[in-house]
Amino acid sequence: MTERADLAVIGGSGLYALLDDAEEHEVDTPYGSPSDAVALARVAGRRVAFLPRHGKDHRFPPHRIPYRANVWALRELGVTQILAPCAVGGLRPELGPGTFVVPDQLIDRTSGRAQTFFDDRAVHTNFADPYCPDGRRTVIDSAGDLDILDNGTMVVIEGPRFSTRAESRWLRSIGGTVINMTGQPEAILARELGLCYTAIALVTDLDAGVEGERGVTQEEVLAVFTENIGRMRALLVRALAALPRERNCGCRASAG
Ligand code: ADE
Repeated sequence: MTERADLAVIGGSGLYALLDDAEEHEVDTPYGSPSDAVALARVAGRRVAFLPRHGKDHRFPPHRIPYRANVWALRELGVTQILAPCAVGGLRPELGPGTFVVPDQLIDRTSGRAQTFFDDRAVHTNFADPYCPDGRRTVIDSAGDLDILDNGTMVVIEGPRFSTRAESRWLRSIGGTVINMTGQPEAILARELGLCYTAIALVTDLDAGVEGERGVTQEEVLAVFTENIGRMRALLVRALAALPRERNCGCRASAG
């Protein structure tokens, strides 16, 4: 396949409108079909692929997303850098809904998801710093007047249920800043293929362990994400325009 995109956004369906005049491509992979057709368009002069992580109709719950097919399909299209917006819960009381966080670390609490492309030989990939340093810097520098936390540890839980209060308090006590259900294995799969990967987390709720919180509901998460979609879109467009054309980070060298 000829290269059709350099940059990609893997995001929620509400971000589709990021792309004007998008062309849709069905991509097949050795890992089956991705979550949906990949939309290709120009954004701020860059060739961008957009893939709705849960499918356009939100048919894939976090534990059933075809993560390997998604990342493989983007690489097939020529993508080298991925921005990955996601909804997260705050594990600290000061991280109110609407705050953006660009995590620099993650704690993987998922289980039973296919975590690697290498099932037939032992490949141990360097994942000490799971996110691209240059991608993170670009997003942080693109924040403008957004309320943005420029570091933090994202805990990725298996879900699909939210955490108990005890789990939530423990996850905070081991260093978690925010919590979600989709940040892994997307990040390691991108790293295995040498792609730059930058998570952009939008806090939609305070998790159950935060003092005084009632516990999270799906409606709350969706409502706050939808309310903030314009801000997320604006941040993405600025960051896509500013991502480096030449990659000088170590992501490619850390590939499996
Ligand atoms: N996604 C958004 N909010 C969340 C939370 N509190 N826990 C897990 N995933 C989430």
